[in-house]
Amino acid sequence: MTVDVYDRTSIAYDGRWGNYYLLDELNGFLSHVKDGSRILDAGCGHGRDLVFFGRKGFIPTGIDLSDAMLQTCRKKISISAVSAYLLAADMRILPFTSGSFSGVWCCGSFVHIPPDQHLATLRGFRVVLRREGVLWISIRNLYFPLEHRKVQLFGRGLPYRRQKYGGYIDSKGRYIVCVDRGYLQRLLRTAKFKVIRINEDNEWLNAMSIAK
Ligand SMILES: C[S@@+](CC[C@H](N)C(=O)[O-])C[C@H]1O[C@@H](n2cnc3c(N)ncnc32)[C@H](O)[C@@H]1O
Repeated sequence: MTVDVYDRTSIAYDGRWGNYYLLDELNGFLSHVKDGSRILDAGCGHGRDLVFFGRKGFIPTGIDLSDAMLQTCRKKISISAVSAYLLAADMRILPFTSGSFSGVWCCGSFVHIPPDQHLATLRGFRVVLRREGVLWISIRNLYFPLEHRKVQLFGRGLPYRRQKYGGYIDSKGRYIVCVDRGYLQRLLRTAKFKVIRINEDNEWLNAMSIAK
């Protein structure tokens, strides 16, 4: 259902978010990744960050489940003339061997993964990362007042930890999960990451961690 929404709205999505670079976060992430090494962009969508990594001399691989987003991404790669790998794949079942990447970047996509699959997905990220590799991941902040209200309105009842599937369906029809800092920290630690920092704003939690 969520992926269908992206299939229908990829061009509009790119129009809205195509130049929305999280520069502090991107540069912070890259400062932990060895120059020229391989980066996985999990849920790369339209490819803004994938191309950013390519322009900086890294070797990016993007995966996504939406054909239309991948098509938009492919065009962007060819216009910008960077080299990047792109494939249709689910971040929950990664088709890569262990230690394939020095960095995993997961921007705005993990929000669509149901909580009962969070840990397995992060463990998969850990497997494809080298030791000391870096994971950057963003997820919706439960305490963003608006999100909190939406969870109350559309979720199946708080507290979200007791829900089999937390979150809510947004106005576009996407399934969105919100968590809090403590939950994200515990999740990352359990998946064998050392949390370096979690930047929190009203809407998002942006976590940087290192593979142990
Ligand atoms: C909000 S967009 C984020 C796109 C891009 N990373 C960005 O920051 O603009 C979420 C993307 O996650 C993709 N997605 C959702 N579930 C996925 C999954 N299980 N595996 C891979 N991609 C997924 C969607 O198709 C969509 O392109």
